[in-house]
Amino acid sequence: MTPSEIFLAATPGLEPFLAEEAREAGFGGVAVTPGGVTITGGWAEVRRANLELAGAGRVLARVAEFPAVHLAQLDKRARKLDWPALLRGDVPVKVEATSRGSKIYHAGAAAQRIERAIADATGAPAEGDDPVRLLVRIERNLVTISVDTSGEPLHRRGFKAFVGKAPLRETMAALFLRACGWDGTRPLVDPMCGSGTILLEGAARAAGLSPGRGREFAWARLAPSELRQEAGPAPAARGDIPPILGFDRDDGAVRGAAENAARAGLSGHVTIGRAALSDLAPPPGPPGLVLTNPPYGARIGKPGPLHGLYATLGAVLKERFRGWEAGVITSEPGLAKTTGLSFTDTGPPVPHGPLKIRLYRTGPLP
Ligand SMILES: C[S@@+](CC[C@H](N)C(=O)[O-])C[C@H]1O[C@@H](n2cnc3c(N)ncnc32)[C@H](O)[C@@H]1O
Repeated sequence: MTPSEIFLAATPGLEPFLAEEAREAGFGGVAVTPGGVTITGGWAEVRRANLELAGAGRVLARVAEFPAVHLAQLDKRARKLDWPALLRGDVPVKVEATSRGSKIYHAGAAAQRIERAIADATGAPAEGDDPVRLLVRIERNLVTISVDTSGEPLHRRGFKAFVGKAPLRETMAALFLRACGWDGTRPLVDPMCGSGTILLEGAARAAGLSPGRGREFAWARLAPSELRQEAGPAPAARGDIPPILGFDRDDGAVRGAAENAARAGLSGHVTIGRAALSDLAPPPGPPGLVLTNPPYGARIGKPGPLHGLYATLGAVLKERFRGWEAGVITSEPGLAKTTGLSFTDTGPPVPHGPLKIRLYRTGPLP
């Protein structure tokens, strides 16, 4: 079984930026679909997408597709598939099925049939710790089967022990940086850095470190031999990167962000300090990007008292950051407006917990 299509899940709203990343990384057949991006390729591409794409939330490989209008037919078709070429007998497999607009409406029964076909072909148990997940979608009587090659969602890079308040997902931070047109060659400042997600994604990109360097993936427990080869030596981090600075007024956040940077092997690439927004100043040298995700809305406090904070952010940027570009990530259009910054671009709503957040961007500040 080889992939007929590879699906990269993206946070809704940010798909075009993941498509851009995939194209830049040399993947073929890149197309945007709601909730993700599809690419073409085989197991080598599956493995590389997991390791290298900072914006992908998970990587699903489609391995089979066939029509079926009743369970016996599904069963027969499932038993014809070459499961030992995909799954190992010693790794548990969990089948998750959904059905929409199809004669087979009982998704649970469909999942059971496929689980049984797999167990008979490979001996793989349906129960057990850390299973490989097989996703079965039945839509208008067409059955598609995909394997989740990531396992733990990819935003869990495996470095962040301290999470702070309302952290951004790593994948979102990476795509917001891209949405700002930041390519790792210009300075980056996050004056309200919390656990440091924006800084760490930025530093890894600037230093040429792959986002998947510190974790394991479900693909390592699949059968194809291409997926079992040892990885080569990880490329060394580039040293000559632009200044990447983060501040927070909260001692715990500063300590936690610094620990996260150390765990990610990025201590030498970021500077993190305790400072209030009102004391913010740009580093010497050329202008870059200020990207920040201030407190907002229902997740941290109520909107009212935050107006002063956003007004300060706007004033400090306008006064001291001439030539820099700014990106503000918030759930409240009113708070974005309070900055008094002239935004040239308002991004699409992006789900973040119970809220929708948007990226508000300026051009170079006058
Ligand atoms: C929404 S959190 C940022 C989360 C961060 N993007 C992450 O991924 O962890 C907002 C941060 O702003 C900080 N903050 C609030 N007011 C501040 C101020 N006046 N000066 C500096 N930091 C401030 C808070 O301590 C908090 O860590």
